[in-house]
Amino acid sequence: MFPCDFAWGAGTAAYQIEGGWQADGKGPSIWDTFCHEKGGRVFGEQDGDVGCNSYELWEQDLECIQWLGLTHYRLSLSWARLLPDGTTRHVNQKGVQYYNKVIDDLLACNVSPMVTLYHFDLPQALQDQGGWKSSDIAAIFDSYAKFCFHTFGDRVKLWITINEPYVCAKLGHEDGIHAPGLKEPGVAAYVVGHNMLRAHAMAWHSYNSFYRTKQDGAVSLAINSDWFEPSTAGCTEDISATERCFAFTLGWFAWPVFVTGDYPEVMRSAIDAQSEKLGFRGSSRLPCFSKDEPAILGTADFFALNYYTSRMVKPGGGSCGKMSMKSDRDAEEVLDPSWPLCGVSWLAVVPHGLRKLLKYIKDTFSNPAVYITENGFSQVGPLQIEDAQRSEYYKETISEVAKATQEDGVNVRGYFAWSLLDNFEWADGFSVRFGLFHVDFGDVKLSRTVYQSGREYAKTIIKYKGGRSR
Ligand code: GAL
Repeated sequence: MFPCDFAWGAGTAAYQIEGGWQADGKGPSIWDTFCHEKGGRVFGEQDGDVGCNSYELWEQDLECIQWLGLTHYRLSLSWARLLPDGTTRHVNQKGVQYYNKVIDDLLACNVSPMVTLYHFDLPQALQDQGGWKSSDIAAIFDSYAKFCFHTFGDRVKLWITINEPYVCAKLGHEDGIHAPGLKEPGVAAYVVGHNMLRAHAMAWHSYNSFYRTKQDGAVSLAINSDWFEPSTAGCTEDISATERCFAFTLGWFAWPVFVTGDYPEVMRSAIDAQSEKLGFRGSSRLPCFSKDEPAILGTADFFALNYYTSRMVKPGGGSCGKMSMKSDRDAEEVLDPSWPLCGVSWLAVVPHGLRKLLKYIKDTFSNPAVYITENGFSQVGPLQIEDAQRSEYYKETISEVAKATQEDGVNVRGYFAWSLLDNFEWADGFSVRFGLFHVDFGDVKLSRTVYQSGREYAKTIIKYKGGRSR
């Protein structure tokens, strides 16, 4: 049903689990700053200072990984733990030791690491110099990436440069609900997205030129997308609105990397038209790629997809008269009443949406190898260790992935559940739980307990790998 070398994984991100925010010489990141500046931006004014304390309790995480029988584990490196001021001028050896241990322990247990270089936590020192809005950031990221390839690439064979550039750009620089908390609608997100693509491409080219021959790994960026469908099937306006939704999320990053080296035409024309309507003068709000820089096209060795939910789409939002991504996109997302909501308001549970999205990726991007680098369902409210609903959703989703591989011929190479552990869920703090293991944040030991969904996932892995049952 799944190829025998299929990757069965789970993911985490440094800021969400590690804690140790200033341990052993780590520098501050934008998430440290964002959480410490009080003002109600994070649920309950919580922070990731301690998180799951994976910095000290890594062995417990490893036990969870082994308990589940994972073949792969996706983690992210804290840039500021390795390079406290973000540059290679000063390397924090304690940070290097920590990740060396994590990687070596995983390999000793026959678990392959997939390593993300950037999962939302820019060193604060770099934010102070303009962060992702500054064009200098691409070269600085490239130096950091080279440092990581050089230091860990003998053992790490799957790399993600940047996780969800869409979320960093939009939530961090347009909506202000993620660090660094900027609200500069209609402009900053496009600049940030642009610099992230440049940074990613530079790092991919560095890997390709200097490390690939020796290390033989694969590098991509993790792109998040919902599955979008026209609100009314066959309605021309809804179909074009759906196209714009794809262009402004998946296409924004996948088109330059996999199709043309440039933004989707639909996105370019919508932004240009809207700018004109709003009387915007000057250069385009959507930057252009320079011919003098490394090409963006072809800079992914596989397609890394984060999928959570689906949306029905109709036109709307374009006439609000303000400069914003919403006006540019001019598409309204609506929920199908038959889709159950899972914990948080944005997460409608639509397992079959993943199958459709995988097929869309196969057809649109020339049948790439695909890793589903994130997928999951959250729990809010009273703790339920026996989370039958979430178990069911995992089962259904994985069977949709099986159909995509077998019936639709999508080249899916792996599936990573989000997340190994309950953790700091960004602006939602600890109120939203995505773990396969529950973490008791009220207990100083931060004890980990497997959920029913974790047990189900472990069984699924055994089933498909043809192993023993637990
Ligand atoms: C993604 C993010 C993860 C996790 C997940 C669940 O956007 O990459 O870190 O928070 O959403 O909401």
